[in-house]
Amino acid sequence: KVVDDAGHTLTVLEYKGRWLPDFPREAIAGMDTFEARHDDVIVCAYPKSGTHWVWEMVRFLLAGTTDLPVIEKDEAMMEFKLPQELENLPSPRPLNTHYHFELLPEDILRKQCKVIYVTRDPRDVAVSYFNHHTKLVQYYQYNGQWPDYFRLFLSGQVDYESWFTYTKGWERGIQEHPELPVHITSYEELQADTFGGLKKLANFLGVEVDETFLIQVVKKCSFEVMGATKGAQEVFDESSSPIMYRKGKVGDWKNWFTVAQSEQFDDVFEREMVGSWAYNLYSH
Ligand code: A3P
Repeated sequence: KVVDDAGHTLTVLEYKGRWLPDFPREAIAGMDTFEARHDDVIVCAYPKSGTHWVWEMVRFLLAGTTDLPVIEKDEAMMEFKLPQELENLPSPRPLNTHYHFELLPEDILRKQCKVIYVTRDPRDVAVSYFNHHTKLVQYYQYNGQWPDYFRLFLSGQVDYESWFTYTKGWERGIQEHPELPVHITSYEELQADTFGGLKKLANFLGVEVDETFLIQVVKKCSFEVMGATKGAQEVFDESSSPIMYRKGKVGDWKNWFTVAQSEQFDDVFEREMVGSWAYNLYSH
């Protein structure tokens, strides 16, 4: 258990020295022996960066239709589903994970699966993750307040650990593995031009789609539609306030951060990220 400054505890699972959510052990262990397929597509992101959104886009693009059953991205989350369940998914599999680059199953590198890396402004991630941690009671049992959570996030004392370490690790991993086909996108890019971002994704995946289909996918993947269809199915939230489809905006952090927190965040960001590719995206 992690304890914040005010004494509230947040439950995480420690597995081989890494901090994860309290997912089935067999599913987590399955990551070590995961057998990739050449046509697997893996959406990778730190939690709360838009994984659901991008995974949904990939699902439609690979299927070539938006006429698919409403299912959650957790159905294809590598560290959450049991190996057999992943095995049962038909090819090409749109998968997703929040694992650090260096912890990715080796077979993904060996088979050179297509990887989509999604990043998001860490301040918006912090706010989104706070809501996640306080609302997903059955996983975290956390009822801390934002100022206390803020420190946990900054110091990486959450499941999947530090955003800064995660992001630098991905940058390094991508550089060290030029053979791995990786498409990089960001929550902000997709918000600014969803159609354009989707088109790039389609190109990366090598799927032939016309504009009408892409427009349809944009609509089906809108915050409103996903929230109304998938969000309505969220079963884990007893208070029934949305978690996975909460607000869907860029810059919500401004409604949460005090001036002092903003300065503190900038200090850490500067220290951790200077010289990195994410620094160019998110320094100000
Ligand atoms: P907020 O909490 O800021 O609203 P992830 O899927 O990686 O867990 O990311 C969740 C974040 O993406 C949440 O952010 C959620 O609202 C937002 N999100 C989910 N679906 C979205 C969509 N279709 N369009 C835009 N944002 C979306």
